[in-house]
Amino acid sequence: MEIRKVENYSEMSQTASTIIINTIKHKKSPVLGLATGSTPEGLYQELIHQYNNHVFSFKDVTTFNLDEYVGLGKGNPQSYHYYMKEKLFKHLDINMENVNIPNGTVQHLEKECENYEKSIKEAGYIDVQVLGLGLNGHIGFNEPGTPFSSSTHVVELDDTTRKANARFFTSMDEVPQKAITMGLTTIMHSKKILLLVSGENKAEPLARLINGNISEDFPASMLKKHPNVTIIADKSAFVALN
Ligand code: F6R
Repeated sequence: MEIRKVENYSEMSQTASTIIINTIKHKKSPVLGLATGSTPEGLYQELIHQYNNHVFSFKDVTTFNLDEYVGLGKGNPQSYHYYMKEKLFKHLDINMENVNIPNGTVQHLEKECENYEKSIKEAGYIDVQVLGLGLNGHIGFNEPGTPFSSSTHVVELDDTTRKANARFFTSMDEVPQKAITMGLTTIMHSKKILLLVSGENKAEPLARLINGNISEDFPASMLKKHPNVTIIADKSAFVALN
């Protein structure tokens, strides 16, 4: 794992955007893996800014999001479909037919997972996957204990994760209990992985990732087995390592 320590959130976002824009510029049909949450918001703003400056186009880009809540429709402001549209896609020239986000409202969720996995494979797997780090070490919604061999699946969300995400809902009761997530193997198939980490509240999981063992109890530790991972973390996330 390459570890890049940057000054602050803004530098983290810019560093990540430079890597992604280079991929978009140099690949004919780039495939990006995207995350939601607070961490990548600055990266998405930076991509929009560079796009508006005519630095690159998204028209040949295909995207796959990591996850989506079960039961939230595309129009629900808490859904990841909505987040992605508002925070990134509607500002770019991306072809929405090339945007892939699991659909958590279908009747046959298992079939949805199978199809999602198949689509990623058919796209030739992901060139650059963006990840945030969960407080309990989750990546995507792969909670502690998820087998490293997992593919896209339905997951029961951990209480820590539901509490951490409650800030986006009016009450904890509204936070869905389940989600669809790319599995750990799905993520490992990505050619390059960018793990973005910012803020003191991520200091403990970052220290555990860097110093700890590889174990299914801490899903992010799997990244140590991947040949091309870059962690971009800001100073405040390093406090536990200083
Ligand atoms: C989001 C996702 C999650 C988040 C993680 C960190 O699509 O898959 O794993 O990346 O929960 O969330 P933030 O960035 O809000 O701290």
